[in-house]
Amino acid sequence: MLQRCILRLYHVLALVLCVSAREDFDWTKNERTSFYYSTFPTGFSWGAGSSAYQTEGAWNTDGKGMSIWDAFVHKKGKIFLNDTGDTSCEGYYKFKDDITLMKDMKLNHYRFSISWPRILPSGLKGEHINEKGIKYYDDLINMLLDNKITPIVTLYHWDLPQVLQEKYGGWQNVTMVNYFNDFANLCFERFGNKVKYWITFNNPWSIAVEGYETGEHAPGMKLKGTGAYKAAHHIIKAHAKVWHTYDMQWRSKQKGLVGISLTADWGEPVDITNQRDIEAAERYIQFYMGWFATPIFNGDYPQVMKDYIGRKSGQQGLGASRLPVFSPQEKSYIKGTCDFLGLGHFTTRYVTLKNYPSGLGDSYFADRDLAELVDPKWPDPGSEWLYSVPWGFRRLLNFVKTQYGNPMIYVTENGVSEKMLCTELCDDWRMQYFKDYINEMLKAIKDGVNVKGYTAWSLLDNFEWDEGYSERFGLYYVDFRNKNKPRYPKASVQFYKRIISSNGFPNQREVESWKRKAVETCSSSNQLLAADPLIGHMEMVTEIVVPTVCTLCILLSAVFLMFLLRGRI
Ligand code: NOJ
Repeated sequence: MLQRCILRLYHVLALVLCVSAREDFDWTKNERTSFYYSTFPTGFSWGAGSSAYQTEGAWNTDGKGMSIWDAFVHKKGKIFLNDTGDTSCEGYYKFKDDITLMKDMKLNHYRFSISWPRILPSGLKGEHINEKGIKYYDDLINMLLDNKITPIVTLYHWDLPQVLQEKYGGWQNVTMVNYFNDFANLCFERFGNKVKYWITFNNPWSIAVEGYETGEHAPGMKLKGTGAYKAAHHIIKAHAKVWHTYDMQWRSKQKGLVGISLTADWGEPVDITNQRDIEAAERYIQFYMGWFATPIFNGDYPQVMKDYIGRKSGQQGLGASRLPVFSPQEKSYIKGTCDFLGLGHFTTRYVTLKNYPSGLGDSYFADRDLAELVDPKWPDPGSEWLYSVPWGFRRLLNFVKTQYGNPMIYVTENGVSEKMLCTELCDDWRMQYFKDYINEMLKAIKDGVNVKGYTAWSLLDNFEWDEGYSERFGLYYVDFRNKNKPRYPKASVQFYKRIISSNGFPNQREVESWKRKAVETCSSSNQLLAADPLIGHMEMVTEIVVPTVCTLCILLSAVFLMFLLRGRI
């Protein structure tokens, strides 16, 4: 009891300090300094990430239930080339091999997610617990720990049980809050003695906007101007409830931390001397990360969201804002429910005011009313939306520091893709991306931002949602044509390994030699990959052709023998 009171007092104090520590972000100061040779604080954690649906495969194996992604990908026309995650990287079967890869890189942590329907096939704790699913995650966690790799576990990386979507409308329905809490509670009960870092939701922006506004992601709903706000409202409540459950029931025994992982691109004003551009850029960030971070750290939605959505709703003659409202009790319940902030970051945009023509109908995009621009000089090696703009990362990290009272941050995703047809393992552009982005993170730490760990996205090439397998983010290349899904190291594996073993960038001479050395090793992997169709061909010969020919031979000999015997009789 006394321990609980002290813990509570500690949280209240931490909250007061956080709120009072809120500062203004200086939009006009955009330092773009040269490369910074130095190392990270001792104990800085280096890792790589994945998620269940993107890598596990085994979509209907060992009692797993259907998720909204299983249902979505099996509808024609939703995913590039109608690809599915049915088998993906076969991570469900190959996790031991994958841990060997992590060990070889000397990773300190591995971020993965638990598939809710794999352990609760109908979504509900009261109905059926799939022990085979629990065993899979137990084995994975045990083996990580045996290899001194800390598991960072996400509870929701987008794969809601399909039953909950069908029966209740998924995140449109507030009942998800309790169901998600039950699922999380089960995870704390079964895995919490070993897992000390929990992430409730991965990138809720995407769940809300792509799942319920544009419909590009599962469950594919297009509820423009309302669906995303409602989904987000319930997600924030669910996050807070799970944090409180951990705080009340598990923290004192298990001594872990519960955070959320928000993804945010940086928005830079087109002209930093123009107030309207600064306001547009700030709106971009507030409608992205602030939508979730501000209630969780400061107690309510960003003022600018309330103003803009409220005004637009009024102009449409609606009696109330399309942005739901938290009651005073809810605000204080939600505020402060984050032990660390997980941050996913990939790219940057220049932002300016758009003046959306009225009459285009309601939408999240009309509400925030801005235009995004890119500099044609920015490199864009892979995904259409992903431009490499390293300085934006430092800006974003400093923004988080000023707005949310300098919270403890784990970078939960950062990385770059390449195009589908690229089978080049000497991924020069990825090494450059990691080098520059990680360096900007180092500068941010020098600025005083409290970053404790970094997670490269992703360990393996995997199922990139609506883009199928056409965008490869992995440090390891996965040959999806081969049913064994072999992994091949890209040059960036060697490069990342050097950053990890040096804990940063010790000096110019050394760092400059890393790329050269990495490229030397990747050409032999390239040859192996090039030989892979041959290997696949040979496998076909041994697995299909040889047994068929043998069977035919046996049959023919039997027939021949029969004729021979008949002739004699
Ligand atoms: C963020 C998502 O969380 C992850 O699943 C995805 O693969 C990356 N973005 C890259 O698009």
